[in-house]
Amino acid sequence: MQAELGKEKISGEAILESLNWRYATKNYDKTRKISAADWAVIEQALLLAPSSYGLQPYKFLVVSDPDVREKLRTAAWNQPQLTDASHLVVFAYKKTQTEADIARFIDRIAEVRGQARESLADYENLLNGSVKKAIDGGYIEVWNSRQAYIALGFLLETAAHLGIDATPMEGFDAAQFNQILGLTDYSAVAVAALGYRDAANDWLANLKKVRFPAEQLIEKI
Ligand SMILES: Cc1cc2nc3c(=O)[nH]c(=O)nc-3n(C[C@H](O)[C@H](O)[C@H](O)COP(=O)(O)O)c2cc1C
Repeated sequence: MQAELGKEKISGEAILESLNWRYATKNYDKTRKISAADWAVIEQALLLAPSSYGLQPYKFLVVSDPDVREKLRTAAWNQPQLTDASHLVVFAYKKTQTEADIARFIDRIAEVRGQARESLADYENLLNGSVKKAIDGGYIEVWNSRQAYIALGFLLETAAHLGIDATPMEGFDAAQFNQILGLTDYSAVAVAALGYRDAANDWLANLKKVRFPAEQLIEKI
């Protein structure tokens, strides 16, 4: 990790240009595929997303099989992005967390940072306490699913900077998705289709972005 961001820092202007350019694409150009190099960046963005305590209680399913994508489309109100976009990612959160999951995470910290595992015992207890509270309080699924949305946000912004179109999607039947994808310990919560817009056939491509004015959303206290 660098102490300071190096010469590749993106200008504010470039960031806003990307964010204004992106839109929730409805129709993709089926003939255009995302390059392996760009896709690798998007996968890294998913891995680099922050999560509560760093627990990463989710999985990202990159679905390439056309038959599976066809089935998913039928469980997503027949939205064409499911089959026509270059890439499809299903965000699935973990339905619960066990002490074994926490232990695995602590092992990973010890490994990556070269720390003695014993030195992390207090932290492990703290995490187990937080997770137990969430399970007992009935909000572990809400908590874990929220973490997946942060990764979705990272993916959307990264794609925009790469000039790749993306659609965040919640319009699908999660139970059917779980069944099609064989998910049991995890549950699908969001989808992202990615590729290149078919601007000529997308009613939304040239419409203005609709947002409330800043003063209605950003309160300065
Ligand atoms: C969580 C979430 C779920 C969404 N679900 C769908 C969806 O199922 N299908 C779709 O075409 N767009 C979907 N959208 C896109 C939104 O309608 C879109 O982001 C919003 O209207 C703002 O427009 P923009 O993204 O083009 O700036 C979803 C967006 C989010 C953030």
